[in-house]
Amino acid sequence: MPGAKNSVLKLMAATLLANGRYEISNVPGIDDVATMGELLAALGVTSYLDPARPDVLVMENSGSITPEAPYELVERIRASIVVLGPLLARCGVARVSMPGGDDFGKRPIDMHLKGLEALGATFELRRGYIEARTEGLHGADITLDFPSVGATENILMAAVVAKGTTVIDNAAREPEVADLCNFLNSMGASIEGVGSPTLSVHGVPQSDLSAADHAVVPDRVQAATYLAAVAVCQGEVVVRGARAEHMEMYLRRLREMGVQTTPQQDGILVYADSRRLRSLDVQTLPYPGFATDYKPLIVTLLAVADGVGIVTENLYPGRFRYVEELQRLGADIRTDGHHAVVRGVSALEGAPVRAPDIRAGAALVVAGLAAVGETLISDVHHVDRGYDDLVGRLASLGADIERIR
Ligand code: EPU
Repeated sequence: MPGAKNSVLKLMAATLLANGRYEISNVPGIDDVATMGELLAALGVTSYLDPARPDVLVMENSGSITPEAPYELVERIRASIVVLGPLLARCGVARVSMPGGDDFGKRPIDMHLKGLEALGATFELRRGYIEARTEGLHGADITLDFPSVGATENILMAAVVAKGTTVIDNAAREPEVADLCNFLNSMGASIEGVGSPTLSVHGVPQSDLSAADHAVVPDRVQAATYLAAVAVCQGEVVVRGARAEHMEMYLRRLREMGVQTTPQQDGILVYADSRRLRSLDVQTLPYPGFATDYKPLIVTLLAVADGVGIVTENLYPGRFRYVEELQRLGADIRTDGHHAVVRGVSALEGAPVRAPDIRAGAALVVAGLAAVGETLISDVHHVDRGYDDLVGRLASLGADIERIR
């Protein structure tokens, strides 16, 4: 499995913190990495993919940072808000456009700002930009209202060079957050409690941080997509590099639906026979709960399963837009607020559909594999933001799929 989008983008932002040359390996060949690279170049950190090792991103921070993240770049990728913490830490000021990203409901950043304020930053919102400054960051005790991934990461990257100790309670525990902690620690930061809901960050002088090399944690959502593809198409596949310990809840649900998943030393063996999948109820929760990013996949599986399943979205109420697209393929799904009732049908039928965002786009690909006849998916640029070579990998497994330019 290539590295996780939701880790590599944050690792890239972390390079703002210390001068030097970084080699980040297991980098996925996805559009969001290129966009983040453009943003960091505008801020003063250059990057290029090593021609001899295409999964290695070489990044150079020469120390000349311009702490201004322009609208044209930030609006293309919501993750760009994570430059705010490191820019403040490095430069004492930052001007960052309000973020864009996937359109699934309101996605505020109040927890990011509140946390950074506790560390001694002040903010003004002016003409679509967040203008931040600090006279010097200091440690603080911060309890997040919700274990937000982005807020945890922004606070972490500022706290590593704040004076004193910062304790972040109710921190996000996603493997990608732990990956960032490990990277920061290898740069010279001092973070304890990695992977737990309480992170203690002992601030170090910025001059004590230095560039480091790091391999990105494998992408659990890309891995989940291939497991879902096998679940609807049947067969036996090893998803190499997938880390079972990072996707336990997803694997548990697949097993309950009748799909065999066996963790192996370097991957996950998935086996689905010709029996119909069984329905179940699922609700999305922060890690280690069932991730919201898996949800379009499970809805797709339920769409062809035997029985009725209720899917409850607890993170993004607006994240059901792809349901209309699945309905075009013949799925029987009703949504009510943040619930979806999915009544399995014996078969989906191919039709033209549109990918509304990355994860929904990938789920529509899985639905297309399950459907009888041809499915034509448009707006696949969304999928390119987070998946490298989905078509090639599925085709190599025997799927009848092609990319039409
Ligand atoms: N929230 C607030 N205030 C904040 C921050 C978050 O109310 O200051 C709310 C959000 O509106 C949302 C919930 O908290 O309802 C969770 O947001 P979180 O901050 O955890 O998510 P994020 O950092 O914006 C990352 C991933 C998402 C993934 C979520 C949840 C990246 C770049 N994005 O977003 O991934 O769904 O965590 O796990 O890391 C994707 O990859 O397709 C994707 C959307």
